[in-house]
Amino acid sequence: MTKQVKNKTIAVLCSGGDAPGMNAAIRAVTLASLHFNHRIIGFQHGYNGLIDNDYIELDEAKVRDIIHLGGTILKSGRSKEFLTQAGQAKAAENLNANNIDALIVIGGDGSFSGLLNLNKIYQGQLIGIPGTIDNDIDGTENTIGFATAVNTGLDAIDKIRDTADAFERIFLVEVMGRHSGFLALNVGIASAAEQVLTFESFTNPGKELRNISEHIHACREQRGLSSYIIVVAENLWPGGLDKLASDLKEYANIDSTPCVLGYIQRGGSPVAKDRILATKLSIAAISAINEGKHMVMTAESSGNVLFVDINDAIQHKKQVNGSLLTAQNSILDIAEIVKAHKL
Ligand code: F6P
Repeated sequence: MTKQVKNKTIAVLCSGGDAPGMNAAIRAVTLASLHFNHRIIGFQHGYNGLIDNDYIELDEAKVRDIIHLGGTILKSGRSKEFLTQAGQAKAAENLNANNIDALIVIGGDGSFSGLLNLNKIYQGQLIGIPGTIDNDIDGTENTIGFATAVNTGLDAIDKIRDTADAFERIFLVEVMGRHSGFLALNVGIASAAEQVLTFESFTNPGKELRNISEHIHACREQRGLSSYIIVVAENLWPGGLDKLASDLKEYANIDSTPCVLGYIQRGGSPVAKDRILATKLSIAAISAINEGKHMVMTAESSGNVLFVDINDAIQHKKQVNGSLLTAQNSILDIAEIVKAHKL
């Protein structure tokens, strides 16, 4: 690679929910910046750091040995103040006072919406890198942290399965994902859950209760008592997971044990896929800055890196893979298979 001398000052921050691989992204952004002779600084605690002018210089030593760490060395935040015009004005003021030529934000849709506001009052380049366990960003097949969160979810369910097997019990396992089913469906398929409840196929509580109970009864009729796991997307069931358990009891006298996986899915050492994705997308972010790009997010499609307009990245149009829904809802239906083949 021909090394160009650019001498820009670049700032990076992490915003919103932390995701495994954010540190890998900070490392790659830093090393690529230094490679092209840019100065690189990191604002701390998300947009709060921009407002408070709270930053650190980044160099090779600071990003050495961080690629395997979950969380983010820059800390993250969901800044209420940055939602106000006064907060945005302070942020732009600090960017200008520090002669920042380009700001890179590693985060999800809320963080990128913040860039739209900043763009109205700040003249420098604004670049996004998709980092969220939810994978709910348009224009990129994968977001940094998603692969690790899927693995963490399935690892947890493998363990829950041991107890479910030992006690021939039904477990309801809630996974994160905000309002999308990427995590739920992928974790459900990878962990061989008997059912997955996601927004994409949810009808209404009454109909779902009937389907769930019928399936549990069919399974138990066909194969006797055994473990049974339902993966449930967070925010899906009205009243939450405990309510689903009590609804099942009331509707069909079915006992179940609710288990919310919660924040363990956000933490942990990133898997290789997330480290590689973070590295690719972060190097692309510095290329974007070198090429004078503005208001784009780095993205991945079929293994290739591309640049997506920030506006297009936050449309919430990305759909979970239809073939996965079909697989979970029909092809992998244990009750049907056992019944049809009298196994
Ligand atoms: O966006 C990542 C995520 O972990 C979602 O899956 C979840 O709904 C949300 O963040 C939880 O947010 P908080 O950081 O407020 O706990």
